[in-house]
Amino acid sequence: MDDTLRSLLRELESFGVTNDARAGAREQKMLNITPETGELLALLVQSTKARRVLEIGTSNGYSTLWLAEAVKAISGTVVTVEVSAAKAEMARRNLERSGLSPWGRQEVAEAGRFLGQQPPSTFDLLFLDAAREHYSDWWPWVQSVLAPGGLLVVDNAVSHAAEMEEFVAEVRATPGWRSLIIPIGNGEFVALKPVP
Ligand SMILES: C[S@@+](CC[C@H](N)C(=O)[O-])C[C@H]1O[C@@H](n2cnc3c(N)ncnc32)[C@H](O)[C@@H]1O
Repeated sequence: MDDTLRSLLRELESFGVTNDARAGAREQKMLNITPETGELLALLVQSTKARRVLEIGTSNGYSTLWLAEAVKAISGTVVTVEVSAAKAEMARRNLERSGLSPWGRQEVAEAGRFLGQQPPSTFDLLFLDAAREHYSDWWPWVQSVLAPGGLLVVDNAVSHAAEMEEFVAEVRATPGWRSLIIPIGNGEFVALKPVP
């Protein structure tokens, strides 16, 4: 990782902490992943050669920067979906500052609508970090858009375990899928789509 990106990530980490501490409404918070989770995502992308990455929940683009830097090294791209136009604009500026814009495509959209419009097997890795109450509804589309052998990574599996319980149980009850929770950052639920 180059110094420009490292220092931008550190700047965003400080901004996120300060902003989220004083923001009143949840919509005003950045709710970024931890740097350790960023490193895990980069490692998973590069080790599995996941060239087609989808992120649901861009916020101001902190996690997108980790993903974009990882796909750049393997000639891939990350598509990132965010419903808030204001946050998507912050992410656009952060991607531009990082020089990683060519490896990221932003979609300002409601994730359920976006997922429902994607052809099957479009992505090799899907990072889900948005509205936990919708994950069970989105599960059929998540299964469809991931290619066989694709990875699903979901944030907050430890920090919001109760809210994730139903979704985690649903994935675990789906034939052929294997999964585990990695206790780093806010806890990452990682699930592998079976190859027929
Ligand atoms: C936890 S934050 C994402 C943090 C980001 N991944 C990071 O680590 O920098 C969740 C984001 O999902 C967005 N979001 C919530 N519901 C959504 C939906 N139905 N469709 C698209 N985005 C949604 C929120 O606006 C918020 O910016």
